[in-house]
Amino acid sequence: MIRLEQITKSFGSLQVLRGIDLEIQKGEVVSIVGPSGAGKTTLLQIMGTLDRPDTGTVCIDGVRVDGLKERELSAFRNRRIGFVFQFHQLLPEFTALENVMIPAFIAGQGRHEAQASALEMLTMMGLADRASHKPNELSGGEKQRVAVARALINRPAVVLADEPSGSLDTHNKAELHQLFFDLRDRLGQTFVIVTHDESLASITDRTIHLKDGEVVADNITQNLGSVQFSLGPLV
Ligand SMILES: Nc1ncnc2c1ncn2[C@@H]1O[C@H](COP(=O)(O)OP(=O)(O)OP(=O)(O)O)[C@@H](O)[C@H]1O
Ligand SMILES: [Mg+2]
Repeated sequence: MIRLEQITKSFGSLQVLRGIDLEIQKGEVVSIVGPSGAGKTTLLQIMGTLDRPDTGTVCIDGVRVDGLKERELSAFRNRRIGFVFQFHQLLPEFTALENVMIPAFIAGQGRHEAQASALEMLTMMGLADRASHKPNELSGGEKQRVAVARALINRPAVVLADEPSGSLDTHNKAELHQLFFDLRDRLGQTFVIVTHDESLASITDRTIHLKDGEVVADNITQNLGSVQFSLGPLV
């Protein structure tokens, strides 16, 4: 699903990533943890093709993305990668539904089709009744769930999240974390999540510890797994 080989990255004289090798399988929920400045965001940006490594190869969903030109790269990113950031980054002048529709529009879907799939995603997030709300009429937790719906609308190969629950209170945090696992169980969705939240890291399938630009530990959690039968809203 994702394969990184010998990734290095420097900003000026500061070497931020020092030869990262990483392989992530489909359906894995992986957390990346480590001290501030360890290179977590840089690594996630490279995985998400938002930044290029100095050396090394990045393969996502069978595609060598480091060889792609900018235009091919943005099309690939739009269809194959979903992003969730610490602050929702929804567009304030658009409704929740419209925000979720945007990546589908960019991918070339027509209005009706995009609207239907956006509503389907919002329904899955338990937000059907908030579809016409603008971001400032939504709670923090709701905004993040809209951001997750937007990340998922094109059914990406992987969702990359950078401290997605960093701005949420305990309750909304737990709800968002549960949502990731429900989406994995229901859609087989792969997630790579940078987090400082130990309660999240402790329940992911695997925790990659980054320090000074190197992977210092890569722990697979023994997990009995959960089975999700419900077909209603997830939250
Ligand atoms: N565009 C940039 N130009 C120069 N230096 C940068 C740039 N982006 C990141 N850095 C530096 O690279 C190092 C790693 O940054 P990165 O954002 O990857 O850390 P992080 O592990 O995500 O930290 P945090 O937990 O605080 O978010 C830091 O020392 C940072 O100052
Ligand atoms: Mg960071």
